[in-house]
Amino acid sequence: MKFTLNTGTPSQIETECLVVTVVDNAAESSNSSKAAKPRPQLLTEDKSVLRAAEELIASGEVTGKTLETVLLHKPPRLKAKRLLLIGGGKAKKFTSAELRKLAGAAVRSVKAKDLKSFAFVMPAGVDDAAKVFVEGALVGNFDADYYRADRTKQKIEKVIMVAPKGDQKKLEAQIEQGRIIGEAQNFTRDLVNEPGNRMTPTILAERAKKMCDEVGLQCEIYDGEKIREMKMGAFWSVAQGSDEDPRLIVMHYEPQEAPPKPVLGLVGKGITFDSGGISIKPGEGMEKMKYDMAGGAAMIGAMRAIAQLKPNLRVIGIVCASENMPSGKAQKPGDVQIAMSGKSIEVINTDAEGRLVLADGLHYAQQLGATHLIDAATLTGACVVALGMVNAGVFDNNDDFYNRFNNVLAKSGEKMWRLPAGDDYRDLIKSDIADIRNTGAGRWAGATTAAMFLKEFVGETPWIHLDIAGVAWMEEGKPWIAKGPSGVAVRSIVEFAQDFAKSSGDSAARS
Ligand code: BES
Ligand code: ZN
Ligand code: ZN
Repeated sequence: MKFTLNTGTPSQIETECLVVTVVDNAAESSNSSKAAKPRPQLLTEDKSVLRAAEELIASGEVTGKTLETVLLHKPPRLKAKRLLLIGGGKAKKFTSAELRKLAGAAVRSVKAKDLKSFAFVMPAGVDDAAKVFVEGALVGNFDADYYRADRTKQKIEKVIMVAPKGDQKKLEAQIEQGRIIGEAQNFTRDLVNEPGNRMTPTILAERAKKMCDEVGLQCEIYDGEKIREMKMGAFWSVAQGSDEDPRLIVMHYEPQEAPPKPVLGLVGKGITFDSGGISIKPGEGMEKMKYDMAGGAAMIGAMRAIAQLKPNLRVIGIVCASENMPSGKAQKPGDVQIAMSGKSIEVINTDAEGRLVLADGLHYAQQLGATHLIDAATLTGACVVALGMVNAGVFDNNDDFYNRFNNVLAKSGEKMWRLPAGDDYRDLIKSDIADIRNTGAGRWAGATTAAMFLKEFVGETPWIHLDIAGVAWMEEGKPWIAKGPSGVAVRSIVEFAQDFAKSSGDSAARS
């Protein structure tokens, strides 16, 4: 997908389709029970475009409602063959998060009409407009139908972004940033989309290595033998039941000028198929467990974008890749495992395997020098029960670190909700015979139980845990994104790394 800037007048642009945003500028009604009559307003000053849309607006067909689309063929006095009006919702609430979605929706609606290109009138007054537009457009252009003969081969190939003369350089830079982030998210979605037979731990490691070679990251891959040798007993306990050898993927981003500290450690759960192991899952819906490596894939995608955006910060990416299978070699409920940190774990349920592999991943990240940690994992069904398929769960052991992370969510546009992981929940993982157990005794606070388990392996290191079980796979398509893998967490982590580089650079400069 190619993006070009055009500083011409929208009505003079020759294109298959000119896309213009319409917002609803109705005054806030003081009486909330009575919705104010919509006051649609096109986000352009081009008189010809405004006139072309006049009748549609007068008819009441165009209201500016979020992602409403109305198409006009052969618009009078416009060089474009079509005019697509797309709703941005309430004018006051039209921010970069809405523009990102709108871009995705524009791409999906234009490509559904079998067109390969369009021109988009960039709205004024939205932060990072060009960046979020490009991100959203790339995300909208992706479909997870790779294995279907009747797949949508139709893709948007070219987008003209129409913006007034001015900060050309700034806009070009934003387009490049948006491209890097949007492509990284789609790269992650591609990995997550692959089924278990085509995305084994070995294949995931090969894909990560290839990516690292392409963007100039150092990458080490360790096999099962090495994982055992490193005494990663928790990680190995999950892998031991499978015929597929596990892989520990370690990616390094080390810019020369970056201070030795902080070092951000990104740790991802890479279970390429989770059958539950001996505590086997019910058959219904088990096929979904091919996406149990979405946290790991998010870290690989994030490292790709970080390598290209080059924040002045050291980052280590770790993915613990394994299958979770039942077999004669598989671990059993009741087994006791010794993690790399030396902690003993009573494995009550072999289906709570994500926390086991992450325990060693988090410990190893600190051994490699990580001073701050973020992990991402499709960790618990309980998180899906709590937050549905809208928000990811965020857990932490440090208010300040959480606040920093939370601040970038407005930029990334990803929805995440803080859940507790305080010490008053510690009893949930108490074991009679080992230091800890891998599940709670009851059904309550399942997502927090998993977080409490992980917390045992991070010590005092500031840490964020993202439970993305409910949001890594879109059960339904949305106007701006296809059904299937969402690539969630990539954008937030990349924004965070950039923000963290800036703020720690500032504090290093102050001290
Ligand atoms: N991979 C699953 C969690 C999951 C559930 C991911 C739904 C995506 C969608 C995880 O390994 C798991 O099986 N967790 C168990 C934990 C339980 C045994 C304590 C669960 O959530 O049921
Ligand atoms: Zn499981
Ligand atoms: Zn799992």
